[in-house]
Amino acid sequence: MAVLSNARDMLEQMRKVRQIRQYRPDPIPEDVITELLEVARWTGSSRNTQPWHFIVVDDRETLRRISQLRPPIAWVAEAPLGIAIVLDGESETSEAYDEGRVTERLLVAARLLGLGGGVAWYGDASQQGEAKRILGIPQERTARSIVAIGYPRSVRDPRPNPARGGRKPLAELVSYNRYGARRS
Ligand SMILES: Cc1cc2nc3c(=O)[nH]c(=O)nc-3n(C[C@H](O)[C@H](O)[C@H](O)COP(=O)(O)O)c2cc1C
Repeated sequence: MAVLSNARDMLEQMRKVRQIRQYRPDPIPEDVITELLEVARWTGSSRNTQPWHFIVVDDRETLRRISQLRPPIAWVAEAPLGIAIVLDGESETSEAYDEGRVTERLLVAARLLGLGGGVAWYGDASQQGEAKRILGIPQERTARSIVAIGYPRSVRDPRPNPARGGRKPLAELVSYNRYGARRS
């Protein structure tokens, strides 16, 4: 196992991974996209099924059409790149877990590469169906989200109803040995 001399710096960077919704227009270099895809490829999945396919979307019109699926993802139109996650559609629960894992790794890797990422959910079943049509994904596959990637312009949430920032304190989130028990 690797022991990193800068592990604490890495952890600090991980803690600082935020949802980025505003990007500079600069394109992402091809080798950087490949790094991101390699991180995605090596993500662990249930029984190592690797139930995913990744669509690299850098076509402005396609990103614009995705952004119009619902107002909370309008900001996707500004991203120079998106990685749409397609799942086999064979095991709903484990694939949802796998999708979360690969998404988080993409967001962390993006931050470590000086980029920012944002998760965008397409919405309900009919909006997912529309996303599949836009991206040419067979309807029997699962497609719920795209991870937008770009050089961050701001960490602000530009939506009319921004999500609340910050996090709950550890004291509210952690118990010891039994649910609800504090450290004795
Ligand atoms: C499953 C999931 C779906 C999300 N969908 C959206 C979305 O559709 N649009 C959006 O702007 N943010 C979306 N987010 C981002 C969350 O709003 C964000 O992670 C949360 O507000 C914390 O943001 P912060 O890390 O910048 O503090 C999603 C996050 C998750 C985990």
